[in-house]
Amino acid sequence: MAEEKELSYSEAIEKAGSAIHRFRLIEVKGIPLMEHIANSWDPIWAFQPDPSDLLIATYPKAGTTWTQEIVDLLLHDGDAEVCRRAPTAVRIPFLEIVSPPPIPSGLDQLSKMAPPRVIKTHLPFQLVPEGFWENKCKAIYVARNAKDNLVSYYHFDRMNLTQPEPGPWDGYLHKFMRGELAWGSWYDHVKGFWQEREKRNILYLFYEDMKENPRREVERIMRYLDLSLSDDVIRRIVELTSFKAMKDNPMANYTFIPKPVFDQSISPFMRKGEVGDWTNHFSPEQSQLFDEDYERQMKDANIPFRATI
Ligand code: A3P
Repeated sequence: MAEEKELSYSEAIEKAGSAIHRFRLIEVKGIPLMEHIANSWDPIWAFQPDPSDLLIATYPKAGTTWTQEIVDLLLHDGDAEVCRRAPTAVRIPFLEIVSPPPIPSGLDQLSKMAPPRVIKTHLPFQLVPEGFWENKCKAIYVARNAKDNLVSYYHFDRMNLTQPEPGPWDGYLHKFMRGELAWGSWYDHVKGFWQEREKRNILYLFYEDMKENPRREVERIMRYLDLSLSDDVIRRIVELTSFKAMKDNPMANYTFIPKPVFDQSISPFMRKGEVGDWTNHFSPEQSQLFDEDYERQMKDANIPFRATI
């Protein structure tokens, strides 16, 4: 019998065809997750990383892809060609993702990679497999101010045809405040990692700091990874990870995910990449309501978020 050719990530998605639709959310320990993830939870929770593995954790739309690209370039001495060896989702598997077959799950992908691996997750701190902390893995957390994060998630849920229907903006805003979106409450997510950052040696970054001074933040990540790269290489990494460069990079801009999953004609994955786009979406009333609720939900935290720079 002829050996079956391994499908590329895009081919596997094409092949999954009609199994792709907007999935329901099912709670795992109180956190709403896409149904395929919830239904395959046990092996995800049991995942044993290698101590050399690096975790990149975020609430969805906080700057995950940007940070993945920076890390991959840092680990490959700024070599643009090497970092175009495969799409982001193949280079840096998404730990908990489970999709209809034959799309490989994050765990399938990881089982075929030798450590040290870079691993992406959107899980809130309490759902991150404990092996990461037992093995003292390094972890980078990126947080983005709530209003821009919400706007970005809204547009993403319009174009990601596997996420629940976002519905109208005002209703979506309330779902965000109530923590009803996939991966749960933004408020609990950012607080969960913030509280653990010192004990677990987590590098806690802010999207706004990365926009304000990308070089400073690239250097911060470099030091955390115990790397020391030349000025030239650092400058190149900053250029290669600008919004414009990543938008034009087919291995980073998610055009490798076919239209039945990411319909970029509805909203591009690399949408605006700005701080403060929320001002184009919130009415004054919505902004006030959101701020009052924010005060309540964040009163026990002192995280220096900035909604403008
Ligand atoms: P917008 O929707 O506000 O444009 P994630 O990777 O976590 O899904 O986050 C996606 C968000 O990060 C999108 O925000 C996207 O445009 C933005 N982004 C991606 N790459 C970026 C870069 N190099 N610089 C700035 N923002 C970037």
